[in-house]
Amino acid sequence: MKMLLKAGALACVMAVGMGVSLQTLAQPPSKENIGAAVFNKKGNLILPEGFREWVFIGAPLTPHGLNNGKAGFPEFHHVYVNPDAFRVYQQTGVFPEGTVIVKELVLLQKGDYPDGSKLAPSGRGYFGGEFQGMDVMVKDTRRFPSGNGWGFFNFGHHAPPYVASAEAASADSCSGCHASNAGQEMVFKKYYPVLQ
Ligand code: HEC
Repeated sequence: MKMLLKAGALACVMAVGMGVSLQTLAQPPSKENIGAAVFNKKGNLILPEGFREWVFIGAPLTPHGLNNGKAGFPEFHHVYVNPDAFRVYQQTGVFPEGTVIVKELVLLQKGDYPDGSKLAPSGRGYFGGEFQGMDVMVKDTRRFPSGNGWGFFNFGHHAPPYVASAEAASADSCSGCHASNAGQEMVFKKYYPVLQ
């Protein structure tokens, strides 16, 4: 009887042990990195960290003053690329898998003129104020075959803090316009001299 009990207990311990390890194997990793991008287990992109120390490639500007007061994105668009990907781009002219491109919006300082411009010691112009939102593109062909290999994410169009994670945006809201206007490579390279 004692022996039987012992054997039973042992079998139990083994079953529990195996169960746990099988379960661990079956569960997807809670986070998965590709390059500088980190996805949670739902497949949402986690807010990139440290991007203000990445390679700053340019700052397109489409202010209200030049768009009848109705610019969709009246802020500076500060664009950063993760350094590893930028290095590969310099060598090959192609953004590699794992590239992350961050576009952070930066409000203009309050203007003195109707076109929103103001005077500075350097002249009349537009000057950066506060952070106001973030859009991100990630090159991951396995996850995003339909966006020509790129996933698009919006972390909010408002002052920080931005949302902690974002799900991939629809083709209508993002990738469609990039595909029709920036071409197969999806990045508006012509607006960034360092990408020429
Ligand atoms: C109507 C067209 C259009 C839509 C829709 C659009 N974009 Fe863009 N996007 C552009 C243009 C044009 C640029 C470059 C010039 C600029 O920033 O003004 C750009 C730039 C970017 C950049 C910087 C890299 C690059 O290609 O220049 C990122 C990142 C980005 N967009 C992400 C997004 C995300 C995320 C969405 C959806 C939430 C989105 N875009 C929707 C037109 C669009």
